[in-house]
Amino acid sequence: MHEIIRFHKIHFEYDQTPILKDVSLCIYPGEFIHVIGPNGGGKTTLLKLLMGFIEPSSGYLKINGKSPKATQSKIAYVPQVFAFDKLFPTSVFEVVLSGRLSKLPWHGKYQEKDKIKALVALKQVDMDEFIDHPIGELSGGQVQRVLIARALASDPQILLLDEPTSCIDHSAQLAIDKILRNLKRKLTIIMVTHDLDHIGKNSDRVFCIHGHLSELKPSEVCQHFSMGLYTEKEGALI
Ligand SMILES: Nc1ncnc2c1ncn2[C@@H]1O[C@H](COP(=O)(O)OP(=O)(O)OP(=O)(O)O)[C@@H](O)[C@H]1O
Ligand SMILES: [Mg+2]
Repeated sequence: MHEIIRFHKIHFEYDQTPILKDVSLCIYPGEFIHVIGPNGGGKTTLLKLLMGFIEPSSGYLKINGKSPKATQSKIAYVPQVFAFDKLFPTSVFEVVLSGRLSKLPWHGKYQEKDKIKALVALKQVDMDEFIDHPIGELSGGQVQRVLIARALASDPQILLLDEPTSCIDHSAQLAIDKILRNLKRKLTIIMVTHDLDHIGKNSDRVFCIHGHLSELKPSEVCQHFSMGLYTEKEGALI
């Protein structure tokens, strides 16, 4: 099978400070990858490279054999921080529909098919009963589900999630785990997380990013990592 994503010897620097060093990886269609690592290790940077928001300092990165910029419409992103005005009267449906913005024709108006895609996406995250609710009245876990629906509404091949379960309670985390389990194999999923307890259930492979990249089997990931024991010796995790 051909890979959907390839990083080849990627180096990335912000203002001459190395962030990612010699990162090479291949991801295959339908895989569910978890990305873990210490704060500042470069996890969000990796996602930004995938979305073409930033470019590698050296090395190359291909998605379906093309540059990230050429494949942006195939990638959807659930951000680490979603800042919005809780008092601004935007409905759940409008937020999900905004996932279709990049697909609109020249006249910029939503079509019937955009509304259908948004509704289907809301059903996938089990939030259709909240369709007319103001987004500002939802709980943190419900907002995360709506953001996943917004991402799904764009019909992505690749879904990127940056810590979607931080700051939400255990039952909301389980609800998101279930949604993602139902999506597994239907698209390629890359999820940054610090919730190591949840990795085993969904994950095919785990990448630990701490400047360098180390690959781990889901079964090898243990709670030790979440206790801050990311220790590097001669480039390997110990
Ligand atoms: N725009 C920027 N300009 C300069 N440095 C940046 C910028 N964005 C991030 N950094 C730095 O790059 C490093 C990696 O950041 P990144 O956001 O990728 O980490 P992370 O692994 O996602 O961390 P966290 O777990 O806290 O989200 C950090 O040291 C951060 O301060
Ligand atoms: Mg981050």
